[in-house]
Amino acid sequence: MAIASIQSAILLSFLVLFLGPYLQTSKLCSCSDDHKVGNCHSIERLALLDFKKGVEDPSNRLSSWRLDNEDCCKWHGVGCNNVTGYVEELDLNAIRDTAQATRLSGGISPALAQLKHLKYLDLSDNAFRSIPDQFIGSVKELRYLDLSDNYFEGRIPRQLGNLSHLHHLGLSNTRFSIQELQFLSYLTSLEYLDLSWSDLSKTGESLQYINRLHSLSELHLSNCQLSSFPLMTNFTTTLSVLDLSDNNFGGFFFKAIINFTALQSLDLSATEIQGPIPKAIEHMTSLKTLLLGLNELTGPIPDVFANFTSLECLDLEYNHLEGPIPLSFGALCKLKELSLSRNNISGEITEFVNGISLCRPNSLLEILDLGDTKLTGNLPYSIGNLKSLRILHLQETSMNGAIPKSLGQLSELEFLDLSLNAWDGELTEDHFANLANLRLLFISFDEKPPKPLFFNLSFNWVCPFTKLFVLDLANCQLGPLFPSWLRNLNQLGTIVLENVGISDKIPNWFPKIYPSLQFLDLSNNQISGKVPLEFRNGLNSTCNLKQLIAVSLSSNNLSGELPQECWKDLESLEVIDLSNNHLSGKFPFPFGLHLSFQS
Ligand SMILES: *[C@@H]1O[C@H](CO)[C@@H](O)[C@H](O)[C@H]1NC(C)=O
Ligand SMILES: *[C@@H]1O[C@H](CO)[C@@H](O)[C@H](O)[C@H]1NC(C)=O
Ligand SMILES: *[C@@H]1O[C@H](CO)[C@@H](O)[C@H](O)[C@H]1NC(C)=O
Ligand SMILES: *[C@@H]1O[C@H](CO)[C@@H](O)[C@H](O)[C@H]1NC(C)=O
Ligand SMILES: *[C@@H]1O[C@H](CO)[C@@H](O)[C@H](O)[C@H]1NC(C)=O
Ligand SMILES: *[C@@H]1O[C@H](CO)[C@@H](O)[C@H](O)[C@H]1NC(C)=O
Ligand SMILES: *[C@@H]1O[C@H](CO)[C@@H](O)[C@H](O)[C@H]1NC(C)=O
Ligand SMILES: *[C@@H]1O[C@H](CO)[C@@H](O)[C@H](O)[C@H]1NC(C)=O
Ligand SMILES: *[C@@H]1O[C@H](CO)[C@@H](O)[C@H](O)[C@H]1NC(C)=O
Repeated sequence: MAIASIQSAILLSFLVLFLGPYLQTSKLCSCSDDHKVGNCHSIERLALLDFKKGVEDPSNRLSSWRLDNEDCCKWHGVGCNNVTGYVEELDLNAIRDTAQATRLSGGISPALAQLKHLKYLDLSDNAFRSIPDQFIGSVKELRYLDLSDNYFEGRIPRQLGNLSHLHHLGLSNTRFSIQELQFLSYLTSLEYLDLSWSDLSKTGESLQYINRLHSLSELHLSNCQLSSFPLMTNFTTTLSVLDLSDNNFGGFFFKAIINFTALQSLDLSATEIQGPIPKAIEHMTSLKTLLLGLNELTGPIPDVFANFTSLECLDLEYNHLEGPIPLSFGALCKLKELSLSRNNISGEITEFVNGISLCRPNSLLEILDLGDTKLTGNLPYSIGNLKSLRILHLQETSMNGAIPKSLGQLSELEFLDLSLNAWDGELTEDHFANLANLRLLFISFDEKPPKPLFFNLSFNWVCPFTKLFVLDLANCQLGPLFPSWLRNLNQLGTIVLENVGISDKIPNWFPKIYPSLQFLDLSNNQISGKVPLEFRNGLNSTCNLKQLIAVSLSSNNLSGELPQECWKDLESLEVIDLSNNHLSGKFPFPFGLHLSFQS
């Protein structure tokens, strides 16, 4: 799952503004009835204004669409042919628009049928409810049509079959009801087809029309409630992207696509496929992305990836794979993401990391997700050579030994989870030296090991990861002094320092300096002094720490009274555990709070 969400984040950041500015020239005068202003034909201008009239536009994205702003070729989202002046492009995608853009909603005016020269139409990511058949049937020049992510009602327009020049058809999550796909049989130039998030379970034999799209190179049928799929033997050398994720093929499906040797991207995540990964996959050496997570795959990962020299992303998470990481993985120098988490993968990671770390000029690996596996052995020193690493997830494996100091060289690292392993030895300032980008740090243990992992940091250490948001070091050894380096980390939202051997007073600055604090767990230490919750801001006497959700200070040596003020402002607070301390006085909690308290 981690990889999937990370991928969409990466994808978003790559979404670039498509439309370049259109050069406007008015050298040519077209001497017809149709009156031209600037480059724009008045008939088309009126059609666009009619469209605007029928649309709700809360963030005023169409503010440039005005009668007094005559040259419609300069309107937002409109592109004209610079010689004829006819509107050829309409791009009203909301996500690529300005940051504050909201969805356009309502119906689409039939007047748009006037735009007879339209070649490119993108209405995706809006909230349109209807699109007139008459309009679809008349824009016969369209090469590119994207209606994805809208709230269309009723059946998918048959007139789509009239758009025989289409190269690109995006119909993902349109909410059209789709009973049959015959319209596809006329779209012989189609190169890109996306019907994801449409229920195709009732399309029966008409699914076969996809097989006739001989020019198709990209096909997305994610989450279409498919339980079988035509063999598509005609695509074996043309199709480069195939996304069939989130369907229920069951059984053994791989055989059907093993001859698709031109594929660069194959997504069969969450399709209930079973059985071993076939050795025949070795022929699919053009793959850059192979996503097989969330299935029932069993047996070892075949060692056939040596020739996958283009492979960038491999996701096998949440299966029942076992055995070692194949030796060939160490030679995948283009690899950016590898997820094998939630499998019974065993053996050591040393040879893989050593191999990848020798990539020249350097390793590109950004995401290494091996959590919840049976991996054993040490974290190798060569991990420090994976300079591109942003995410290192090794939670709950059977790895052990000392954590190498080279970890501190991973200056791009944002997420580090080494929890629930059998590490020993110490962590020093070197281990964190260049981790300036770290946002989440988990190095916790279930219970305190006999020789706990020891944080050997000097009292004056200035820690480099000032952007840290989550810190969980439960059952490590940080004490006896309260860690003063926490003072730099004022973006912290979660602090878990349970049973870390602190026997000290809490300094005055704690936890006041954490405006975003939501979770605080300091239980099972020997912390003495007053309860470290001061809600009143000394300077302007407003209440602080309003985002708190859960606090545990149980089993310490806290004494004195609780602050009496501001409790009503802690609207998110659900749990506060103060048990096993030496507190006294009144307890001012509002009714409804889950309070655990005993002195
Ligand atoms: C008109 O547009 C085409 C491509 O859309 C571009 O190559 C050409 O340079 C433009 N001509 C003028 C005069 O701007
Ligand atoms: C295309 O439009 C014409 C009318 O303009 C209609 O007769 C024909 O059936 C349509 N074809 C398809 C495949 O929808
Ligand atoms: C596959 O292609 C061949 C030759 O182009 C064609 O005769 C056949 O009908 C196609 N198969 C399907 C299922 O469309
Ligand atoms: C794959 O190709 C081989 C050799 O061309 C052929 O024998 C086999 O039947 C094909 N498999 C499928 C599922 O099309
Ligand atoms: C890799 O490619 C070489 C040459 O193309 C071939 O001899 C070898 O068998 C291939 N290895 C695998 C594992 O497919
Ligand atoms: C790993 O193996 C154990 C024992 O064979 C089995 O109970 C468990 O379900 C397996 N886990 C996965 C994720 O396949
Ligand atoms: C902590 O690190 C210092 C060197 O930085 C070393 O001299 C000392 O022995 C270490 N302390 C422990 C308890 O390991
Ligand atoms: C009081 O100070 C806090 C922190 O400095 C600040 O966030 C808040 O806006 C201030 N409140 C008022 C009412 O000035
Ligand atoms: C507990 O706190 C009291 C009073 O603050 C102090 O006298 C005592 O030494 C503390 N006990 C421990 C074990 O720290």
